[in-house]
Amino acid sequence: MKRADAVLSDSGIFSRSEARKAIADGRVFADGKKIASPSEKINENAVITVDGKAINIEKYVYLMMNKPQGYICENGKENSVLSLVPKEYYRKGLFTVGRLDKDTEGLLLITNDGEFAHSVISPKKNIEKLYFAEVEREVVAADISAFANGFELKNGEKFAPAILEKGEGKTALVTVSEGRFHEVKRLFLLTGNAVLYLKRLKTGGLWLDMSLSAGQTRALTAEEKDLIFAK
Ligand code: URA
Repeated sequence: MKRADAVLSDSGIFSRSEARKAIADGRVFADGKKIASPSEKINENAVITVDGKAINIEKYVYLMMNKPQGYICENGKENSVLSLVPKEYYRKGLFTVGRLDKDTEGLLLITNDGEFAHSVISPKKNIEKLYFAEVEREVVAADISAFANGFELKNGEKFAPAILEKGEGKTALVTVSEGRFHEVKRLFLLTGNAVLYLKRLKTGGLWLDMSLSAGQTRALTAEEKDLIFAK
């Protein structure tokens, strides 16, 4: 059992003073019963509603965003993707699981659970990411084998093998498992090509929910969370 104002503010959805005001205004219910005062002790597993809408007070959130272009995966900046996270999902300490470039769109995982994020980006897990790319020139067979062989640069830097599939016209699908900085763009540059548009479609076994419009976010289901680690 915990004070009602603390339950609300610990979720990060409300500040302590907002929580007290919402309770004083009679807007907050726990398991269907109006909370009479901020100091009332409530069960931390209670179903809490504010203005009749259930709110998620779980400590950790696991979100999928369809990242739009023009936003960066860095906290505290004006055009941070985190500024697009709806209030009901917002928690202190939210961050993106890995990064997409400012001009890249698509599947972005967001959480406040460091252990989960680490397990997704850990090189040991080798989680594959699938991207759709529009490129400057059509992909040819030599590009596909170059991606499949991987690259070793003069400075010793290595790129692990990646799967390149030619799409219609000047488009392609790319599967990488390393998650390096600008990885897909750099792979194309190494074959004398250039990425004009990039969208992440899949992480592990989890596809981007195509019903999310650019900038929209929703919580992952438990099954979807597991899918990330499925082949
Ligand atoms: N590879 C890139 O080059 N950019 C991204 O945003 C993601 C993968």
